[in-house]
Amino acid sequence: MATTEDITLHRGLSGVYFDRTETTFIDGKEGKLLYRGYNIHDLAGVSNFEETSYLLMYGELPTGAQLADFDARLKANRNIPSEVMGIIHAVKDDHPMSVLRTAVSAMSAFDPESEDNSSEATLRKGIRLTSQVPTIVMAHHNIRQGKEPVPPSETLSHAANFLYMMDGEEPTPETAALMDTDFVLHADHGSNASAFTARAVAGTNADLHDAVTAGIGALSGPSHGGAAENVMTMALEIGEAENAEQYVKDLLAGGGRVMGFGHRVYRAEDPRARHLREGVRKLSEEKGEPKWYGILESVQNAMAPYGRRGIHVNVDFFAGVIYYLNGIPHDLFVPIFAVGRIPGWTVQVIEQFEHNILIRPLLQYAGPEERSYKPITDR
Ligand code: CMC
Repeated sequence: MATTEDITLHRGLSGVYFDRTETTFIDGKEGKLLYRGYNIHDLAGVSNFEETSYLLMYGELPTGAQLADFDARLKANRNIPSEVMGIIHAVKDDHPMSVLRTAVSAMSAFDPESEDNSSEATLRKGIRLTSQVPTIVMAHHNIRQGKEPVPPSETLSHAANFLYMMDGEEPTPETAALMDTDFVLHADHGSNASAFTARAVAGTNADLHDAVTAGIGALSGPSHGGAAENVMTMALEIGEAENAEQYVKDLLAGGGRVMGFGHRVYRAEDPRARHLREGVRKLSEEKGEPKWYGILESVQNAMAPYGRRGIHVNVDFFAGVIYYLNGIPHDLFVPIFAVGRIPGWTVQVIEQFEHNILIRPLLQYAGPEERSYKPITDR
């Protein structure tokens, strides 16, 4: 029963524009990324997560007073209800991304505006979630080790507080700054799989918690958010820089993929990568473990011929080693991506609501011809 009309399939929706956005511009050929018109190279390491989140959520850079007010709101919303802590306890043995998905879903029951889909309420909920998600991730991290969660700080920045809640130790300004840059780089990225998922959910007029819960599910896969974790696994397997070339050869010969390379949109180097490359180099030196930077450099050299095919390093290639050197367990690497991405999901859901349309593409049928039903006794 082949469909008679001519059909052009766009598998994976590759190259398909499905709507407009005023938030993030990506030029994949040039390797260019703008948030609300500002180049990522002007924001990373200069702006901070609080300011960048404001920019994404409100469309303009804040004044000093606006930033102070926004920062105070973020700090005031860091606690999560004891009921959600109870749920985290109940599911503590699951992967941290699954725990985060469950907890964010549960947070909807405690949000005073959970079913209000106005832009104003969605923005307020997005600000609350931006503050609550780091607390969920680190509370689970402690609970699963049989420890009490570290209550969030009322004074530290978003990035410093995130690291502080890991073990109650305040990070050095340098470590907090690198984490902050990581969050800035991950804050939004156009129609990636998780943002598209969030938009598809919002397209049905479901609410922000529904959309973010679904987005977390999409982010958890290794082709999207999971790459940083896999890059670190790869670096550990390689062990020493001189093994990298052979490792990469064997992996590619076996049809494998080098994690932290390639991107659906970028054909040039992912512009976010360079801001973490220098961070890995410095951090490896500081921690007396320069071999990690050496391993990544050697993998990059081994992958250089792939540059001709448009396969370059992406943001996740360097992120994993930064987390590892800061003592963060591997399975928290994807949740860190989620911590940074809440502002992006929020603005994309708001954009979706503001010009809403049900996202409902078509599938070309490739199954059996029409046939007659046989009663079970005749089969
Ligand atoms: N290593 C080796 N070969 C690769 C890689 C890689 N990392 N990425 C793509 N290729 C090859 C692939 O084998 C295919 O070759 P061929 O045409 O001979 O079959 C060709 O490049 C095109 O690959 P594709 O899978 O059709 O391209 P895609 O746009 O669907 O894949 C990707 C994008 C990110 C899923 C893929 O590059 C990949 O699996 N990379 C590794 C995982 C990773 O680093 N993900 C993080 C992405 S950045 C974070 C984010 O924004 O989500």
